Amino acid sequence: MPAIELSGRRIIVAVTGGIAAYKACELVSTLVKSGAQVRVVMTESARRFVSEMTFATLSGHEVAWDMWAPRTNVEHISLAEFAEVCVIAPATANVIAKCAHGIADDLLSTCLLALTCPVVIAPAMNTRMLCSAPVQANLATLRERGVHVVEPEEGRLACGETGAGRLPATEVLVEAVRDALRSRRGAMSGMRILITAGPTREAIDPVRFLSNPSSGRMGYELAAEAQRRGADVTLVSGPTSLPRPEGVAVVAVQSAEQMHEAVQERAGVVDLFIGAAAVADWRPAEAATEKMKKGDREEMTLRMVRTPDIIASVAQWQPRPTIVGFAAETNETIAHAREKLQRKGMDMIVANDVSEPGAGFEVETNRVTLIDVIGRETDLPLMSKAEVAAAILDRAGALIASRESQ
Ligand code: PMT
Repeated sequence: MPAIELSGRRIIVAVTGGIAAYKACELVSTLVKSGAQVRVVMTESARRFVSEMTFATLSGHEVAWDMWAPRTNVEHISLAEFAEVCVIAPATANVIAKCAHGIADDLLSTCLLALTCPVVIAPAMNTRMLCSAPVQANLATLRERGVHVVEPEEGRLACGETGAGRLPATEVLVEAVRDALRSRRGAMSGMRILITAGPTREAIDPVRFLSNPSSGRMGYELAAEAQRRGADVTLVSGPTSLPRPEGVAVVAVQSAEQMHEAVQERAGVVDLFIGAAAVADWRPAEAATEKMKKGDREEMTLRMVRTPDIIASVAQWQPRPTIVGFAAETNETIAHAREKLQRKGMDMIVANDVSEPGAGFEVETNRVTLIDVIGRETDLPLMSKAEVAAAILDRAGALIASRESQ
């Protein structure tokens, strides 16, 4: 089985009010040392056992616990969108009951209800509480829903009794996090995903073309991550120098018209379409069949015509897939992205200010804002394109699930 890298993974560590809360410090520290991005969420009772200052220092981020703190974002939702996995350690009988029954009365429980990522629960409490019928029934409900429950260890408990109920060692919890991430990998199993990537080349003559600096990296990372999650992926790629992602079917094209044709051939057999390609909006009306000669001309004019709008044509398909597009902008990024989302009939748009350092064309990182059709906006930090791809697929997966449930 392939090892799961923790580096760059976005992990929520939820700490609830039990004596084992102090052990969560080592968990946070270990995850951070492995390169993970960790956010800690605490309940009010957990703050009585360990100071939030400890977790803020270990994670390098403010700790979330106060539902009513003044802020500009909706914290429980943005945390839920951030997470690739959430581990509740230690999990008290109270939080287990809230999870099982959908009770949302503080920051942590509202966040848990909004999560779409895998959840790991590590119960820790007195043996008799653990073995009680309600706790066992709640744990059984959670297991049925696919929550990863880490078996508590046996030993001497804080109350002086001996039995099951101890929070397992940090290594066991970290392994449970890896298992949960591994399970997410099959999350797109059976899904048919079509992705466009790279630039297009619009011929002027046999040796000249109009193009743009897209390296294809963003689209290739999306294809590789979707393949890792078990999807059946086709990548329609403009010219790039990138290696073909393993297990992905690649259709190589040059021009916007060829990309359009390759995409249209798959009409009706796609569940998710992602347009990451930087497609030319215009092409020369006629491409010369032979190399154009300068002659003694000082000027030359190219007559340009529109290329087909690939993503807008996908929005006309029946059945229509879930559609994710990009907006590469240099000013008023969010406003332009919102307008494209509506005009082209997408479900989500990835707003990409390509004038920002470290974002957009050619570089290995990107900073984007995800905007969906119901107006939710999520600002992601500067991340590697692989991490951005994972975040886009998380959100796209949630959109597909919500379309299916309607
Ligand atoms: O390839 P990289 O070097 O990694 O760079 C990544 C990227 C900057 C190319 C990528 O992040 C990105 O922003 N891709 C979209 C670029 C673009 O063409 O944006 P746009 O705002 O012009 O187009 C809006 C959307 O319509 C895009 O999803 C585009 O694929 C699609 N489109 C555009 C024109 C057209 N004729 N047909 C289309 O489908």
